[in-house]
Amino acid sequence: MQPVSYRLESAWQPDGGPFGRFTFTLVNLSDHPLSDFRLVYTSLTRVIDSAACENAVFLRRNANFHEFAPPKGLVLGAGESWTFTVSGLHRQAKHCTDGAKSAYLTLSDGRHVPVAVSDLLLEGAASDPPPQRLPEGKLDLPFALQPWPVKIDVVPGDGFPVVLYPAAGSSKDEIRAVDTALALFHRLFPGGHAPFTLASSPQGRPILFAEKPELGSEAYALTFSEREIRVEYGAAAGRQYGLTTLAQLLDGARRERGKFRFPVSGTISDRPRYGWRGCHLDVSRQFYPTADVMRLIDILAWFKLNIFHWHLTDDEAWRLEIKACPTLTTLGVLRGPDEPMLPQLGNGAEPVGGFYSQEEVRAIVAHAGALNVEVVPEIDIPGHSTAALVALPELADGQEAPESYHSVQGYPNNALNPAIPLTYEFLEKVFDEMVELFPSQYIHIGGDEVANGSWLASPLARKLMEEEGISGTFALQSYFLKKVKQMLTARGRKLAGWNEVAHGGGVGTEGTLLMAWENPQVGIELAREGYDVVMTPGQAYYLDMAQAEAFQEPGASWAGTATPAHTYAYEAEGEFPEELKHRMKGLQACIWSEHFLSRGYFNRLVFPRLSAIAEAAWTPKSQKDWLRFAAIAPLSPIL
Ligand code: ACM
Repeated sequence: MQPVSYRLESAWQPDGGPFGRFTFTLVNLSDHPLSDFRLVYTSLTRVIDSAACENAVFLRRNANFHEFAPPKGLVLGAGESWTFTVSGLHRQAKHCTDGAKSAYLTLSDGRHVPVAVSDLLLEGAASDPPPQRLPEGKLDLPFALQPWPVKIDVVPGDGFPVVLYPAAGSSKDEIRAVDTALALFHRLFPGGHAPFTLASSPQGRPILFAEKPELGSEAYALTFSEREIRVEYGAAAGRQYGLTTLAQLLDGARRERGKFRFPVSGTISDRPRYGWRGCHLDVSRQFYPTADVMRLIDILAWFKLNIFHWHLTDDEAWRLEIKACPTLTTLGVLRGPDEPMLPQLGNGAEPVGGFYSQEEVRAIVAHAGALNVEVVPEIDIPGHSTAALVALPELADGQEAPESYHSVQGYPNNALNPAIPLTYEFLEKVFDEMVELFPSQYIHIGGDEVANGSWLASPLARKLMEEEGISGTFALQSYFLKKVKQMLTARGRKLAGWNEVAHGGGVGTEGTLLMAWENPQVGIELAREGYDVVMTPGQAYYLDMAQAEAFQEPGASWAGTATPAHTYAYEAEGEFPEELKHRMKGLQACIWSEHFLSRGYFNRLVFPRLSAIAEAAWTPKSQKDWLRFAAIAPLSPIL
């Protein structure tokens, strides 16, 4: 690996501007003087006042891409540094991940040169290390189960069987289910001791299966004895969950002998609290290769989560191959200094891309299906569509003033235009291909964060609004989303979306499922309007939120901090009036990827909060126990 020639250090202090001040120092580590260059960094703490900058000239910004020039004539000798400050920020920096996520130089000959960066330092205020996220924990019962079952009445044994195997007479599907559970374990814990074998083993214990549809499809019951283990299951999902429970029990007993034990007698009867137990992954801001997506799905299955909400498109990239629109995954994924989409969120001198071919999508959907995880794909429209508009510029109203509105993330004119017939032709093609790829009953169409004021400077949109008697952005959004819903209905699918789908008149409640993300109250209001709701409030279930107030804790802060203890204890159903509870279909973790530049940050922020949400989705409130959770959580697989 080549040593870097330049490093950009960044610090933030609370004084020096309405939202404090950045100090940046570029260090020339090369053997040569540096002159006649520009510096780019990406940062979610945006500069909005170009004049509020000392010892540098602010040249341009696009979302979180920022470009500066040094003072005229600056020559940075080998080993020398250039320091400049920026105070015209749009908000405070609250965490170490709020500074420059990446940087590069552009030289006078047009070459782009990498610059290393570190996390943001806090100056002029105390910067203590973050607190411990998990207490030591305490077990009343010595079993390594996560999520905890509804009913457990078992006696811990002194030892444990070496391995479990399907009893003679098991059906082909039952043997296959054991194989699936075994393969899942091997993938999650390579090097771990196999919990199952398909051949009978004298030191092992046989599993006797019995299908009992009356239990319900996701339910199972285990009966333990020295001689055998009986697994009753409602259907394939319940059978898998029963086997997963056995694998967790055995794995825990083996890995932390004494602390965790394997039952020798008694029963476990179990079923989920909610039907929708989801986890979302944003693959637009950062790209996750197919193997990572499959591994995350494996982890969901291990925690008995059953929905993978795949956020495939956003401003930063369109990741789903659509054969009828090939530029979506050529132009619509590449971010780089000389690409139509500029570097964002950790991108540097080298262009980056990445998308899922339809073949890969099919493999991921099949992988999930084999684990009873449903893949719900999302294309985020009409907002969050910069990448689609870069790929298909004909979808824009050429007469719309540039930068006539900005999204909350700072993207200009980023919404598909409801007044352009091509918009609908485009979406028809996209949905035609999506329904071939995804068997899920729901297609998620986003619908979030359309900036107020969107389209109002588009002559085509204005004309449509006049003709249709539509007033304002959100009424026009509703007009658009109703058409989208018709497209899905025509293809036999239902519409899922974020809570703003209900704005401006909404789309009709019949067959619509909305995700309440802005705050919990929104979910209750949607239920009152008649929508089915999944609770994903940022304050508890957004896994990109920082886990402590401490500046050194990584993550976002707009929804506050979500400690693992809070995420675990939070009751999404909490304030729902009794008569609306049936509308609350479940809950979901959301993995937004702006901050997930490294595997280290991904694992630190996602775990153990993902398994906390899995337990909140499965285990009845009366059985939740934070200290028990804390004792078991460290056994979790990670990405
Ligand atoms: C969202 O967080 N914009 C759904």
